[in-house]
Amino acid sequence: MSDWIEKRLGQLGIDVRQSKHNSEMNHYLELLREEIRITERFLSEDGQPPTMDAPTIWKPSNVYPSAKLGKRVSVGMFSEIGNNVIVGDLTRIGKGSFIPEGVTIGKDCFIGPHCCFTNDRFPPSPNWEKTIVEDNAAIGAGVTVLCGVVIGTSSIIGCGSVVTKSVPPHEIWAGVPAKKLRNR
Ligand SMILES: CC(C)(COP(=O)(O)OP(=O)(O)OC[C@H]1O[C@@H](n2cnc3c(N)ncnc32)[C@H](O)[C@@H]1OP(=O)(O)O)[C@@H](O)C(=O)NCCC(=O)NCCS
Repeated sequence: MSDWIEKRLGQLGIDVRQSKHNSEMNHYLELLREEIRITERFLSEDGQPPTMDAPTIWKPSNVYPSAKLGKRVSVGMFSEIGNNVIVGDLTRIGKGSFIPEGVTIGKDCFIGPHCCFTNDRFPPSPNWEKTIVEDNAAIGAGVTVLCGVVIGTSSIIGCGSVVTKSVPPHEIWAGVPAKKLRNR
């Protein structure tokens, strides 16, 4: 049994070395397996057990080690978060989203399921462009975002849109290519 599991059981008040009954142990191990299966939480840098503020990454997902996820970020399953991506506190990223290197997402944003960000306007090329999603923006399901744009704070992007230009704050845009529908 790994140290981490033993430590986690200790936190739950279970001393592995003193537990004599196999069935009791199996019960607790099953609970623990379930906990690990449901969410995989980051260990803090010093290897300590996770805290409530740790991001939740639903498996299977691929979060590159240099990605920085803020407090209580959640990442839906089948997502990929690339190198050096920054995601602010409380932001939710829907299932099956692709967020490559060069993308920065603010705090408390909503990224719907199956969103696809890009970082290369003329692929394949080494000229990657940055994309910024500002705080509180909401991006609907299945949106594609061309690189080099800023999606302004508290703006909303309708589902299925292709964002090709920067979206000012507090506006609702939708369509292919996305155009302004109205102010938020
Ligand atoms: C963009 C959105 C917020 C607009 O909602 P709304 O203000 O109620 O808009 P309406 O339904 O009144 O539509 C206004 C016009 O925009 C069009 N429109 C609305 N959403 C659109 C979209 N996603 N793509 C293209 N056009 C859209 C409508 O067809 C309508 O056009 P019309 O005036 O020619 O008839 C909403 O349609 C939307 O896409 N929400 C995101 C849903 C989502 O993905 N949620 C994720 C959770 S899983």
